[in-house]
Amino acid sequence: MYVDVLLGLQWGDEGKGKIVDFIADQYDIVCRFQGGPNAGHTIIIKDKKYVLHTIPSGVFRSNITNIIGNGVVIDPITFEKELAALDQAGIEYRSRLMISKKAHLILPTHRMLDAASESSKGESKIGSTLKGIGPTYMDKTGRNGLRVGDIFLPDFEKKYTILKEKHLGLLKLYPETSFDLQAEEEKWFNSLAEIKGLKSINGEYYINDELKAGKRVLAEGAQGSMLDIDYGTYPFVTSSNTISAGVCSGLGVAPSKIREVIGIAKAYCTRVGSGPFPTELDNEIGETLRRIGHEFGATTGRSRRCGWIDIPQLKYTIMLNGVTQIIITKLDVLNTFDNIMIGQKYISNGQLTEEMPFDIVSNPVGIEYSEEKGWNSDLAGIKDFGSLPNTAQEYIQKLEGLLETKISIVSTGPERSELIVL
Ligand code: GDP
Ligand code: IMO
Ligand code: MG
Repeated sequence: MYVDVLLGLQWGDEGKGKIVDFIADQYDIVCRFQGGPNAGHTIIIKDKKYVLHTIPSGVFRSNITNIIGNGVVIDPITFEKELAALDQAGIEYRSRLMISKKAHLILPTHRMLDAASESSKGESKIGSTLKGIGPTYMDKTGRNGLRVGDIFLPDFEKKYTILKEKHLGLLKLYPETSFDLQAEEEKWFNSLAEIKGLKSINGEYYINDELKAGKRVLAEGAQGSMLDIDYGTYPFVTSSNTISAGVCSGLGVAPSKIREVIGIAKAYCTRVGSGPFPTELDNEIGETLRRIGHEFGATTGRSRRCGWIDIPQLKYTIMLNGVTQIIITKLDVLNTFDNIMIGQKYISNGQLTEEMPFDIVSNPVGIEYSEEKGWNSDLAGIKDFGSLPNTAQEYIQKLEGLLETKISIVSTGPERSELIVL
């Protein structure tokens, strides 16, 4: 029938996992279309916490099919661990988790290359999750990569060895990093059995056939639009198209099949890793946001940098994605703030602007803020918009006006049911 997209409008960790899990019951199929185990999507159901890296966040709904699309890069070792965690939690997924044969594989030597490249960059490092994402996408576009479908071919090991040898040659260009390749290779080959045990599909045919049969598909983004390889804060980005355009190439569906584009943003802003962050609060307020919001990476455990919400940044990503509705998460994190700032405009080369300049890496922008009143009260248990404190309602309405896009859900806590549908 149609494909709806849910994706991050900031630098990742907007709460995609929580919201996909919540809205998944309105769909038949949930798909990941890009990224890989650099993602960490947290889902909290009652008092149980799950973190997914490769598996779509629809997996906790027993009637939903989950597809890892061709645009995703898979590390069989991480994937095996994710499956084991689901097994342990008693989640049955085997009949409804499928992998596109065209998804690329992350080899142990891709992770070695990631680490070597980062350490060679010194101060200017990207702050990569070191999951091998960049080198794997480089091999994909360089036409050297290995894909899930290759695992089933008789000459797979030969193909693997050729690629590994190429990587070992490249690694000679870098200072040595410590990595037990033999041990990692052993784990890697063992974990391929898990992928083989699941259904590998021609994802593009599967999804289009299901759409023809009237099924509703949700595409789940990973990372955030400001980490997009083309439009993010390059070079401090990831290596895939994280914006809605990536859905078409990452699943094999046409633009005409896309209905809603749901953009998700925190009520403030965070970034993990290096790179520009115009509204960053490198001070006590940022520290308070980090503490209250538990802003530590779901994949790497690193502290996330925190700052105020940034309107020019959001308007930029709303434009790039064609966002039709917005979800605001973590409103509760602002509960104790007397005043809340909104980054309204950039100051670039002495001029006020609402546009994202070409380069904010070597030419950082200043910010013009407006000051809003906080609500200084707990939002727990509030289920309808009208019951929110007036100033909280005003904050949401103000964002809606500034972003010229309707806000459809406000999330007020990490648990599945802690949200307000508008
Ligand atoms: P994702 O990568 O976009 O799925 O987001 P992460 O899971 O990396 O990070 C979001 C974090 O915020 C997780 O720890 C969630 O459990 C948590 N979270 C999500 N929504 C809310 C919310 O509305 N309020 C609070 N306090 N926490 C939330
Ligand atoms: P989710 O899906 C936040 C960041 C890294 C680094 C840059 C490049 O959980 O929102 P990479 O490993 O891709 O080479 O890292 O991108 N990054 C993320 N930041 N959330 C993510 O995913 C991220 N995935 C990558 O910190 O700055
Ligand atoms: Mg995350």
